[in-house]
Amino acid sequence: MIPQSFIQDLLNRVDIVDVVGRYVQLKKGGANFMGLCPFHNEKSPSFTVSPTKQFYHCFGCGAHGTAISFLIEYSGLGFVEAVKDLAQGVGMTVPDNDDKIPPAQRAEHQAKSMALSDAMTRASDFFRQQLRSAPPAVAYLKGRGLTGEVAAKFGLGYSPDEWDSLRKVFPDYEVSALVEAGLVIDKSDDDGAHRKRYDRFRDRIMFPIRNTKGQVIGFGGRVMDGGEPKYLNSPETPLFQKGSELYGLFEARQAIREAGYALVTEGYMDVVALSQLGFPQAVATLGTACTPIHVQKLLRQTDCVIFSFDGDSAGRRAARRALDACLIHASDNKVIKFLFLPTEHDPDSYVREMGAEAFEQQIKDAMPLSQFLLKEVTGDNDLRTPEGRARVQFEAKPMLQALPASSLRLQIVRSLAQITQSMPNEIESLFELSNPVAPARRPPPPRSKRMAPVGLERQIVRLLVAHPVLAAELDDEALNAIAGFAPDQAEMLRQLVELSRGMGEQASFATLVEHLREGGSDFDTLIAEIAAETESDLDVVRQEMAGAVRQTRIRMVDEEMQRLANAGLRDEDSRSRYRELTQQKERLKRQSDAAAG
Ligand code: GTP
Ligand code: MN
Repeated sequence: MIPQSFIQDLLNRVDIVDVVGRYVQLKKGGANFMGLCPFHNEKSPSFTVSPTKQFYHCFGCGAHGTAISFLIEYSGLGFVEAVKDLAQGVGMTVPDNDDKIPPAQRAEHQAKSMALSDAMTRASDFFRQQLRSAPPAVAYLKGRGLTGEVAAKFGLGYSPDEWDSLRKVFPDYEVSALVEAGLVIDKSDDDGAHRKRYDRFRDRIMFPIRNTKGQVIGFGGRVMDGGEPKYLNSPETPLFQKGSELYGLFEARQAIREAGYALVTEGYMDVVALSQLGFPQAVATLGTACTPIHVQKLLRQTDCVIFSFDGDSAGRRAARRALDACLIHASDNKVIKFLFLPTEHDPDSYVREMGAEAFEQQIKDAMPLSQFLLKEVTGDNDLRTPEGRARVQFEAKPMLQALPASSLRLQIVRSLAQITQSMPNEIESLFELSNPVAPARRPPPPRSKRMAPVGLERQIVRLLVAHPVLAAELDDEALNAIAGFAPDQAEMLRQLVELSRGMGEQASFATLVEHLREGGSDFDTLIAEIAAETESDLDVVRQEMAGAVRQTRIRMVDEEMQRLANAGLRDEDSRSRYRELTQQKERLKRQSDAAAG
């Protein structure tokens, strides 16, 4: 079970326009974004995404939901996978299967990651400062052609050639945060008894790895001689996951925007050197294969990603992995290209030897994704034989299935058809691509069926679902009035109010809908109605709510007066109560008229 509080945080961080926009071409239209519905076939757009509601709705087929439901419906992911996917995109880690973390534990968690973060910052400051007093390290960097300026930009440092130099900045060298941060290593004797602790990074050039907020979350450390390993990286820690971090992204963000593309390399040194040599838009994977998360992160920053791979065979393998990672994110409005440097070169050495212009040309000539894909599937199969052509299709099948339905995919299918002497529709049906856009097609609900006349109870429930913040604003008197007035809805109301209040400031339509996901079928029709409504200003909604609450009071007063009258108003008590009610009703009516006027 993923805790609801996490879902709330998540929905508050992701923007549904981003999420949907990755798969559906959206155009701004008034307050909303519009596009062709991915859940049914249509020629003119009736699919809307509301940034205010953080909800999508299709007027054609009735599909609607939050960013989470979109991913589930669109890519066929399970709930947990969808949440993970979204979380990774905004740098959040889904807590492991813990049923409702108690607040105390969550606080402890937070304190822990603060401690880790603090340790990393201190270590990074220390390494940087050590560089100044380490002439061989400075000489090494100079020897690699780096200026002090670029070293400062990337916060490069030096870890001294000692077993416990970090003791200087961590007087309490034994704290557990240091192991968890991956800064030290605990070694135990064979009998497991005596524990000895020492610095992980010794006598290395230190490359701090920052997250997109600029916080140091890990290090890469390079030896200065021919020692092994050449690069030593921080282990995975709660702060640092190699599969989702890119070296240099923090430093490159502005440049990526200016250049209009991100350049992905394989090495730390490439990033730093390229930055100095006129390509500050470069980032690098961290000695690991490129993952779909990396790609997603990059496509958040820019519509164009160009991968540069070293000319060696490792580079070619890495390119193939990157291609696979890109497929699910490829779409008609994104450009993904692959650049292969001559063998023996990496971007750093290439630019230094051939110059920036030559590299610029390489970037211009980079191979588009479609071409690289076709080249990969063709491989060295013999296209003159049916077996060879069949093999090509066999290789292509999983890749095309990973591609979202798009014009790009259609184009690739056509090229593949040509190469393999087939028809595009043969490939589409063989690969089961024909109905790919609508993994969870739902029957369109009757379109113009008006809901039963909106009763007062329903109006109130509807306002509360659409604007859960209102629940917090209702006073007890109002709540009692509503509950007393609509006894059959009292339970529903109580549930709603409790849920909404529990969400505090994060209460929104989208978070509430996710809350109601399980067992909330009572609300389904309401949710669909709200999704289809144009949004109104919260102040207007507040007035509407106040009006509805007043109406319930008036009706309750009416009912009580009726009861008293029916009983004949025989004693003084009931007569005085009746007068009191009459006055109350007058007052409420006046308020109501004042609000209306
Ligand atoms: P220089 O040799 O300094 O120019 O670095 P480079 O970035 O060109 O290195 P290389 O092409 O050899 O490696 C690319 C990336 O792979 C590095 O930036 C590291 O992230 C990673 N890497 C290289 N060697 C090692 C190693 O020995 N261990 C680990 N864990 N990672 C390595
Ligand atoms: Mn290199």
